[in-house]
Amino acid sequence: MSERNPLVAGNWKMNGDAASLDTLLDGVLSELSVLALQRCSVLVFPSYVYLGQVANKLRGTIVGVGSQDVDERTQGAVTGGVSAAMVKDVGCEFSLVGHSERRTLFAESDELIAEKFEQCKACGLVPIICVGETLEERRQDRTMEVVTRQLNAVTSRVGLAGFDGAMVAYEPVWAIGTGESATPEQAEDVHAGLRKCLAELDEDLSSRTRILYGGSVTADNAVALFGKENVDGALVGGASLKANSFAEICKAAEES
Ligand code: PGA
Repeated sequence: MSERNPLVAGNWKMNGDAASLDTLLDGVLSELSVLALQRCSVLVFPSYVYLGQVANKLRGTIVGVGSQDVDERTQGAVTGGVSAAMVKDVGCEFSLVGHSERRTLFAESDELIAEKFEQCKACGLVPIICVGETLEERRQDRTMEVVTRQLNAVTSRVGLAGFDGAMVAYEPVWAIGTGESATPEQAEDVHAGLRKCLAELDEDLSSRTRILYGGSVTADNAVALFGKENVDGALVGGASLKANSFAEICKAAEES
């Protein structure tokens, strides 16, 4: 039995509008009230423009809120930028950094992502650093090399104290939005490898850091994924946009 309580996070990406997200949240809150979760934490990650609305609605509930990204700079002449302090100011406690869609669509480098991670920590946000290999990298047997490089870029910048309290999400790029999840064994292999990598920094830090799996998680595959020792929860995209499937995943985590 691990000391790490499970966590399920919904990454809403660039979906929804004020009305539909409000309805989605009503659904999630009502499903979760039936589950009466004791162990599982639940987070949602709306688009920037709805963060304040969602954070206000969720204040005092069991569901936490985070942003999908932050700017690496603190403030100033950055048209279109959103700082970690702003995200914190509107009521968020978490932020994703280094999601593969940011790495690919916005050409974010390991170094830039490490700077974003550092900004989160400086502003009191809990960062969730996303790592994952492409299909080609997996075929070339380079999965561990890629994910450890992505993780080490952060740990070498912020060090042990700077990393403490953060989370990791392993999201194989080939599994995101494709309907083809990693098998529980594939996920466990990489999660165990990432934990080993953290243990080189510090054993205790490694054993308390939550490592989430992401990539086509559904109500159907969640139980088997969460059955693995080093899978501490999930970062869920598509299935987080429906209250009942998201709640089913939370239930699977609670019972894992
Ligand atoms: P998916 O997305 O669940 O739709 O595959 C996961 C993610 O990108 O975080």
